[in-house]
Amino acid sequence: MTKDGGFYERFPYPLNHTHHDDAQTTLLRILRSTDIGSRPKAVLDAGCGTGAFSRVLRAAFPNATIYSVDRSYASLSRLSQRDDLTDIVPVLHDFESGPLERTIADVVIFCHGVLHHCEQPKVALANILRSCRKIEFAWIWLYSQSGRYEIEMIRKVATELGRTETKKEEYGFELIREIRSFFPSSVAADYQLCRNYTTENNALDAEMEDRLMIADRYMNPVAKHYSVGAAFKLLSQCGLRVVDAPTLSGSVVASEFLERRGVRPKGMKYLSLLEKLVRPSGIGYIAVDSTRSTID
Ligand SMILES: C[S@@+](CC[C@H](N)C(=O)[O-])C[C@H]1O[C@@H](n2cnc3c(N)ncnc32)[C@H](O)[C@@H]1O
Repeated sequence: MTKDGGFYERFPYPLNHTHHDDAQTTLLRILRSTDIGSRPKAVLDAGCGTGAFSRVLRAAFPNATIYSVDRSYASLSRLSQRDDLTDIVPVLHDFESGPLERTIADVVIFCHGVLHHCEQPKVALANILRSCRKIEFAWIWLYSQSGRYEIEMIRKVATELGRTETKKEEYGFELIREIRSFFPSSVAADYQLCRNYTTENNALDAEMEDRLMIADRYMNPVAKHYSVGAAFKLLSQCGLRVVDAPTLSGSVVASEFLERRGVRPKGMKYLSLLEKLVRPSGIGYIAVDSTRSTID
């Protein structure tokens, strides 16, 4: 049993779909626009799940060896069955237990939606970094605190009402649907995402997608929400320095407002204010080894 109580053995992620097209194309654009993008010998997809982003990484770094690592056997099995993902190296490994057996050199680290599901995020990140000899840059995507405020409230109410007992899974789904009805904007956001998935893939059923959404957002036993300040702290404690958060600065109106007010772009204060104005569900941080002065 993995440390998350086997959650991703029951709900490999993403189960039925790739990520929403927007997320994939945005990420691909960001990765391709980064100068260092063409140089790494290897890419470590740490916590790859069923491989939705390993596919994006394959496209962004055609010459690199892609190591897709996860501690969930069910997720890696699904990854291995995908016919749109060839030529990658799947590895079953738990980063909370230690680094990879073999160190990888000249690496881009990709860790998307993983650390906030770790009991010990600092240990997991330190072991991810220890698995690599030279880090070109790291992409770390973390749940945002301001964008997940309602999700956090729903989770808290569910926990207080005893949702966490895993044997009562059906009770949990029913309870969360009821609690969620007190948060109309969360219901609307969840339904919109499910509609996007089902429109992209006609074989999907909206009811099933909503179940998966509820499991992923509200029932995952470990899900921490990070403010920009908390994310900077986690990364710097492990020896990484944040150089950008391009998904966050994507809001032109909010960025322009802050710059007009004299807030220096890309600094922690700027990103922290942006987080509160934009309230994204998650933030992708680009970080480099803090001993390096630039990302050239
Ligand atoms: C929400 S999924 C994200 C999957 C993928 N990165 C994506 O964005 O499509 C989180 C994944 O991280 C994996 N994970 C969490 N903690 C881990 C750890 N300590 N070591 C390895 N994998 C881990 C889980 O098993 C799960 O597959």
